Amino acid sequence: MNFKQNSLFQRNMGMEDDIPQMQKGVLAVWGSPSSGKTTVAVKLADYLSRKRKNVLLIFADMTAPPIPCICSPSDLEGEKSLGSILAATHVTENLIKKNCIFHRKNDYLTMVGMLKGENVFTYPPYEQTQATELIEQAREVAPFVIIDCGSVIASDILSAVALMEADTVLRLVNCDLKSISYLSSQLPLLRDNKWDADKQLKIASNVKQQEASTHIEQILGNVAFQIPHSKEVETQGLEGNLFAELGLKESRAFRKEIEKISREVFGV
Ligand SMILES: Nc1ncnc2c1ncn2[C@@H]1O[C@H](COP(=O)(O)OP(=O)(O)O)[C@@H](O)[C@H]1O
Ligand SMILES: [Mg+2]
Repeated sequence: MNFKQNSLFQRNMGMEDDIPQMQKGVLAVWGSPSSGKTTVAVKLADYLSRKRKNVLLIFADMTAPPIPCICSPSDLEGEKSLGSILAATHVTENLIKKNCIFHRKNDYLTMVGMLKGENVFTYPPYEQTQATELIEQAREVAPFVIIDCGSVIASDILSAVALMEADTVLRLVNCDLKSISYLSSQLPLLRDNKWDADKQLKIASNVKQQEASTHIEQILGNVAFQIPHSKEVETQGLEGNLFAELGLKESRAFRKEIEKISREVFGV
């Protein structure tokens, strides 16, 4: 099934009743450094898996592997690495399954990523073929695939391929000039490739209270979503506890926006 045919951009044709039709797909979360990519990818995966949807969360970042930062090692099962998958001549569904990391408290969540202390040189070099096969085969592993991309696509094959192959891309930007400058410097790299403007959703991320929405529009132009700053999310990030529930009232707006993105992107 071509997920994109049912994506946000072709749904407003008097077919509102059909919203649950998507119910699967590959989403890449990308944007400027420290814009909140990992936070949003993890919170979306957490939201879907709490709704009993099977989610495969792929951490493509090999510069600062996120797995050691998102939850306690005691919550994880399987010392497996993304590096072993990409080192193979061909990536199969089985190979991905053999190298997944599981969350002990969440049966619906499976993860793939680099382990603590690993980097791109820990494993033999991989090529576009392995990256493309990984994303293709990931669709067979779980109906919902979320890829937390690295920002630097010029030297990160997996993240660059994820942007091409995903059905939808969230492009996160903070409301500051450096973040905007970063994206405008990266976007020309993608222009000549399979980089379909229709599948990109621009998101203002980690929006602080003082960055009122009119101000954001002035700086960023139109955005599809605005994810607010939440002190509780920040604390979870600092504590390496991102799969914890967001119970405080001040996180309500953050939770609502994650729900909205999930509905628009996945129909869930
Ligand atoms: N909506 C948010 N509310 C509060 N803190 C956030 C939010 N989004 C991101 N952060 C914080 O910003 C920092 C960078 O987030 P992270 O998800 O690691 O970014 P990236 O993956 O893009 O590098 C972290 O400290 C994280 O806790
Ligand atoms: Mg990250």
